[in-house]
Amino acid sequence: MASRAVIAGVGGYLPKRIVSNDELSRTIDTTDDWIQERTGIKQRHIAGPTETCAFMGARAAAAALADAGCGPGDVDAIILATATPDQAFPATALRVQAELGIARGFGFDVSAACSGFIYALAIADAMVRGGQATGVLVIGSEVYSRIMNWADRGTCVLFGDGAGAVFVRPGTDQDGTRGILSTHLHAQGTLGDLLYVDGAVGRPERSGHLVMNGREIFRHAVAKLAAVVDEALRANGLIHADIDWLVPHQANRRIIDAMGRKLGLSAERVVVTVDRHANTSAASVPLALAEACGDGRIKRGNLVVMEALGGGMTWGSALVRF
Ligand code: UT7
Repeated sequence: MASRAVIAGVGGYLPKRIVSNDELSRTIDTTDDWIQERTGIKQRHIAGPTETCAFMGARAAAAALADAGCGPGDVDAIILATATPDQAFPATALRVQAELGIARGFGFDVSAACSGFIYALAIADAMVRGGQATGVLVIGSEVYSRIMNWADRGTCVLFGDGAGAVFVRPGTDQDGTRGILSTHLHAQGTLGDLLYVDGAVGRPERSGHLVMNGREIFRHAVAKLAAVVDEALRANGLIHADIDWLVPHQANRRIIDAMGRKLGLSAERVVVTVDRHANTSAASVPLALAEACGDGRIKRGNLVVMEALGGGMTWGSALVRF
């Protein structure tokens, strides 16, 4: 059997500028109390003009490479998940390739909204196990501030900008049971109108703003995320009690808490960044992972489950032994 793919390094980047709930309440009809009570969000990072999708993705990727003790010469593939690329083409992944001075291999972007990182990780896992790549940067990078309708209080308070990345390599003999155990992807195109961006380069007459039916997405999120985590555990003959850490998509504290309860995990076993990052879409899971690995909470040998759900509708999970 081909060896497992291993997450060898993690990294993140957050824009310099922090915007508090109080600052938003000066321009739209909202309050810090409402935002915190309904979402758990206290603040978000908002990109400046030079903090583009490629810029942030490259910084997160460089941090992940450094964390793995590797350099640009070890990379032969870049998979970047984003719904907010800098250009229709070239792929943002290739801007990152150029920025990091990577001279070989290939790269492409993945469009799966908030589930983009899980989708990209699944592709990297398959490519590494299949022998098609030996060093894959998997990046989630998003500048949702550019697609917000800043007059819509129902959406603009929820999102933030940032990038997260992991470096995926084939496991060695010493790695033993370590690595990506399995990934599980789902999509239901009939639910596409619950969360979408109204237009793109092919439909420039549209607004280009994010539109969401929050209540319906919330309902689907709790049920589908719990099911896709159970699917991952079942596929590996594991149970809830085997999970060391839940690294969930960071959309809403209430969804995250509901997931923790369903899995029987104490709050200390759930990585939460939504209070400080808000929802950074495809960047949210790798940013949370980078924080929890960086501060020593996630340790070698820990079983980590990641999950996400977003526009498409897309959802998925990944089970990883660190
Ligand atoms: O990452 C992709 C996945 N996305 C998600 O998972 C998001 C899932 N959904 C949610 O997180 C929640 O549905 C929201 C946070 C978006 C909304 O929370 P809610 O508890 O479902 O609120 P609601 O939409 O039912 O709105 C309740 C009230 C409404 O007023 P009325 O109609 O009851 O008078 C809204 O107009 O809250 C009002 N409201 C606000 N009030 C103050 C909506 N946004 C705001 C706001 N400030 N920012």
